[in-house]
Amino acid sequence: MTLRDYLREMEAEGRLIHVDEPLSPRYEIPYVIKKHDGEGPILFDDVEGFDGKVVANVCYSRESISASLGVTRDRLHEHLHHALNNPSPCRTEDGPVMEVVGNLSLHEVPVLTHYDEEQGPYITSAVVYAKNPDGAGGNVSYHRMDVLDNNRLSICIQPGHLSRYVEQTRESGGETLDISISIGVHPAVMLAGALHPPFNVSEFDVANTLLDGGLKLCECPHVDAFAPSDTELVLEARIMVNEEALEGPYVCVTGTRKESKPQPVVEIVGSMHREDYLYQGLLAASREHRLLEGIPNEVKVWERIRDLGAAVKGVNMTPSGSSWLHCVASFEKTDEEDPRNVLMAMFDAQPALKHAVVVDSDIDPYDTYDVEWALATRFQGDKDLIIIPNSYASRLDPSSDTENRLGCKAGFDATRPPGKTEETFEKGIIPISNRVNKYLRALR
Ligand SMILES: Cc1cc2nc3c(=O)[nH]c(=O)nc-3n(C[C@H](O)[C@H](O)[C@H](O)COP(=O)(O)O)c2cc1C
Repeated sequence: MTLRDYLREMEAEGRLIHVDEPLSPRYEIPYVIKKHDGEGPILFDDVEGFDGKVVANVCYSRESISASLGVTRDRLHEHLHHALNNPSPCRTEDGPVMEVVGNLSLHEVPVLTHYDEEQGPYITSAVVYAKNPDGAGGNVSYHRMDVLDNNRLSICIQPGHLSRYVEQTRESGGETLDISISIGVHPAVMLAGALHPPFNVSEFDVANTLLDGGLKLCECPHVDAFAPSDTELVLEARIMVNEEALEGPYVCVTGTRKESKPQPVVEIVGSMHREDYLYQGLLAASREHRLLEGIPNEVKVWERIRDLGAAVKGVNMTPSGSSWLHCVASFEKTDEEDPRNVLMAMFDAQPALKHAVVVDSDIDPYDTYDVEWALATRFQGDKDLIIIPNSYASRLDPSSDTENRLGCKAGFDATRPPGKTEETFEKGIIPISNRVNKYLRALR
């Protein structure tokens, strides 16, 4: 399965949005991406100043991501958990990405400039692969990259597996770390790139399990790295581990501004792409960005609640909570102690979490209207609220004490309180007749 297969399916279902108006990659395309946020993938057919097309909003909804993996929304976490625990090595085989092998200038690529505070074009959708410098395993992760000139970028590397590889390279006296920068991959590879498998387990192998063994990798001709053989565009590059340049300012997943800071420089040394490659854009703080950041943490929360022995119905790092600060879990309560235990497990599984809400299994955690209804009818602030002051806070919450990383966590138990009959909290039901059933079928 390739990104093109996925887009064909979206086209067949009438979900692919075509924009044939000539639009510039500087602000105009990002504005239209925002306009269609959460609605469907968008293909920009006429990109001003460039021959190729731009695609965006690929992972635009939870349902589309689940469907691209062949599962329903409610089975997504279990499916990802299985793949994380059963990575399978990818086959090595050349593919369409090798149609044109050369050395593209970054100025030939329609990289988008999204927000007015950014210093220029930003690559945001790429998954970056690196081999462990010690030779054991590899890693795939997302790193936004600021275009500095025709062949150099600054790369944002937060503490994680890639930063460990960079550190290892420095410590052993090395000056460069080879990477592949893949732009335009199937949603399974996009989602896998955001997951957190153990150190040295390549997320490509996790994606290969998600794709039933269907992910092939090719060896990059110019650097010591792999990339998916059917990627639209691969930039072959080296991280200059001792050289830094300013990266940012930028807009982060919460939609707020972050200052620039010195980050390693990346030098492009070669490229591979399909003849008519699609450049993939990804708008920071969009639904897509939030789903990709949030779903991996939902898997951790899902696993922790399941380990408590509770039947989990669903977990939602809500997009309106930036998929980072708010989480709702729906589960089958069997004991009055359950909600508190589940809330503490949620904070433990995702330390950046600020507000956690637990609801009964009759509440849809993905429907924030339903969740707020549960808060309105099943929650009392003096009995059902847990406050944890002066606890660890995400740097991404501008209202917290960002210098000391301290803030206040709050857990909301919006499950039915004890002492009253279940019926007190049930939603009213309208009986359905055969005629209404027939009417509903005709609407589909
Ligand atoms: C769309 C998107 C953009 C991201 N941008 C960055 C980034 O610029 N820098 C960074 O260090 N992590 C970024 N992340 C987070 C990492 O990719 C993610 O935490 C990754 O799984 C860490 O990999 P690791 O567990 O292999 O260290 C981003 C994630 C997503 C989904």
